[in-house]
Amino acid sequence: KTGHVVLDPAFVNTASTSSSICFIDGEQGILRYRGIPIEQLGEKSTFVEVAYLLIYGHLPSRTELARFSTLLTRHSLIHEDMKHFYEGYPSTAHPMAILSSMVCSLSSFYPEAMDADNREMVDITIARLLSKVRTIAAFSYKKSIGQPFVYPQNSLSYCANFLNMMFSVPAEPYEIDEDIVKVLNLLLILHADHEQNCSTSTVRLVGSAKANLFASIAAGICALWGPLHGGANQEVVEMLDEIRKDGGDVSKFVKLAKDKSSGFKLMGFGHRVYKNYDPRAKLIKVAADKVLSKLGIKDPLLDIARKLEEAALSDPYFVERRLYPNVDFYSGIIYRALGFPTNMFTVMFALGRLPGWIAHWKEQNENASTKIGRPRQIYTGATETNYISLEERS
Ligand code: SDX
Repeated sequence: KTGHVVLDPAFVNTASTSSSICFIDGEQGILRYRGIPIEQLGEKSTFVEVAYLLIYGHLPSRTELARFSTLLTRHSLIHEDMKHFYEGYPSTAHPMAILSSMVCSLSSFYPEAMDADNREMVDITIARLLSKVRTIAAFSYKKSIGQPFVYPQNSLSYCANFLNMMFSVPAEPYEIDEDIVKVLNLLLILHADHEQNCSTSTVRLVGSAKANLFASIAAGICALWGPLHGGANQEVVEMLDEIRKDGGDVSKFVKLAKDKSSGFKLMGFGHRVYKNYDPRAKLIKVAADKVLSKLGIKDPLLDIARKLEEAALSDPYFVERRLYPNVDFYSGIIYRALGFPTNMFTVMFALGRLPGWIAHWKEQNENASTKIGRPRQIYTGATETNYISLEERS
């Protein structure tokens, strides 16, 4: 209540770094960006405004927001030479592979981004990155389905522009549905930052070597791709579909998840920090209901997801271990309903997390005392020993 967060000494010993960007209370299920609860931001803000809040530390004034939005609008094109990169990828290339390599390649087209200490250049690099990732992501989808690339439209808002690049075709315009744009804003807001998770820690570690923003973010994209991290949203939908194909008996899969020898985990369940319901999952679950009823979609996977949640949350194994649905459990259901293929789900996570990654890279980069990340280890190998020649070896 006093605004001061009292840290448990045990926690302080494990904390890897301090930051003022995002606050999580895993016990209470609380998430705030720069002190503002995500519930308020999800309801009242937009993704562009939340990106500004995370990166620059305050809600933008009208002028700041207008300037930032204009920057994002005017930097959405990628260099025409970068279009040729797509010709080299097979149509089966995973869009996360394309996203990470294309983001890193941006550094070849904007060498001024190398100077991480030039604040003006950093700001323009941030705008370029936030704007162009939509184009890169949409082009990777179009490549995978053999459709022509659709260029950004300056008349459209950030999320509407992305949806248009994804789903419009030359033969007919894509009708922008403002309710769908609002849901996409919500999803991106809820993914925007999450403290020192695996991918954000990767961005901070790479950035601590003074690697440029594009290279640091490309590393974060690769970390997020992991199925135990951001890749889980794709795995959740594939798991739910497997349960559907198997007849929909969720208790069988709950039982399997309890059997360690099976190696099976309920994807979208559990969290390193939340030992309560992930506040993001709560909001996404409500949004999933709204989107599917608005679109008139009866997705059997949503019913299975609800049954699976109910079965797990009433099972002592999950209750004792405080395993709840996390951000990935329901998000894929919405992406599916919006028409995204499953292999784009983690790209959507990356688009959402981008402002958080940028904010952490910037916060660290501006903290002069930051030393290069160089974790030590506990050595468990052989004690000193001598070389054995090949002849003497068995
Ligand atoms: C994200 O860090 C972040 O903030 C990440 C993220 C973000 O916004 O950046 O929130 C995004 O990555 C969400 C997590 C997405 N991943 C998944 O949904 C994959 C499935 N979940 C698990 O792999 C797992 O829950 C982790 C990786 C998320 C956390 O693993 P931990 O740290 O091992 O979890 P834990 O220590 O709380 O596990 C306690 C017990 C263990 O069993 P015991 O050793 O006590 O017998 O619960 C078990 C775990 O084996 N367990 C699960 C389980 N998750 C943990 N058992 C079955 N199914 C699961 N999903």
